[in-house]
Amino acid sequence: MQLNGQTILITGASQGIGAAAARAFAAYPVNLALLARSQHLIEALAAELNQRPGVRALPIVADVAQRKAIETAVQRTLDAFGQIDILVNNAGVGMSSPVGEIDYDKGRQLFDINFWGALMMTEAVLPGMRQRRDGLIINISSIVGRRAMPGISVYCASKFALNAFSESIRVELKRDNVRVVSFYPGVTATNFSDNLLTGPASAQGKGRAKVTSAEDVGKAIVRAAIKEPRDAYPTLFDRVFVWTSTLAPWLMDRVLQRFQQA
Ligand SMILES: NC(=O)c1ccc[n+]([C@@H]2O[C@H](COP(=O)([O-])OP(=O)(O)OC[C@H]3O[C@@H](n4cnc5c(N)ncnc54)[C@H](OP(=O)(O)O)[C@@H]3O)[C@@H](O)[C@H]2O)c1
Repeated sequence: MQLNGQTILITGASQGIGAAAARAFAAYPVNLALLARSQHLIEALAAELNQRPGVRALPIVADVAQRKAIETAVQRTLDAFGQIDILVNNAGVGMSSPVGEIDYDKGRQLFDINFWGALMMTEAVLPGMRQRRDGLIINISSIVGRRAMPGISVYCASKFALNAFSESIRVELKRDNVRVVSFYPGVTATNFSDNLLTGPASAQGKGRAKVTSAEDVGKAIVRAAIKEPRDAYPTLFDRVFVWTSTLAPWLMDRVLQRFQQA
């Protein structure tokens, strides 16, 4: 999709990958609806991006786990900009969940944000996209949504669920010309590990895995919005990790077991 003049709604835009994506989109003359719960962060980012030439940024304080809040957020975006061309479902949280110690309430809360939040946001923007027969949905998954890691099974399951949703609606929405991109970051330098719902920093390979900057991942989201691939990976490492895991899952089992013991 060409970006000039488009309206992009980004969830989880107050920090990390979402904020980096907003800054990368703001290199173009676009309308940005920036959604998150942290009012001061989202307002500061909107004020910063409103300085960019041709950019209009609207801060929206909302919780993606709340259906009413989503409907209000989408309506506010439509009132301000008239339509929504691109939805980036980025809001997400992690949790450490060794089997046998899983906190069900926190697990449900995580699914409400990572899976149901993305689903409800998608359904809320769809009527306009369908009517115009044009739109793009980018779902921010994770490489651990393609190959689950030990110790974070609930988080991985939420990303597998998101991928299934993306895969299903990608075909369903073809006839409406609404496109769906699944985006798979690897470990990215954000506050994600500090914002976990439960437990210490996750077993997502901290200290061992290759870490990409949020800025590079944000730029990769913009490239994905322009090129609209089915599946997008910010780095070659992320792509090779998923390919290897798909071709030789038994080998990845052994590698992960080694890491776990180390
Ligand atoms: N960092 C990584 O290594 C990594 C790797 C692969 C995939 N990802 C995925 O990338 C996405 C962004 O993660 P990140 O690394 O940027 O984490 P982050 O720095 O913790 O940012 C998470 C963002 O989600 C927002 N958020 C959380 N719960 C929300 C809710 N209920 N309603 C609205 N917004 C909510 C947060 O804003 P508020 O708290 O202000 O609401 C924040 O803006 C997530 O989906 C994550 O699963 C991250």
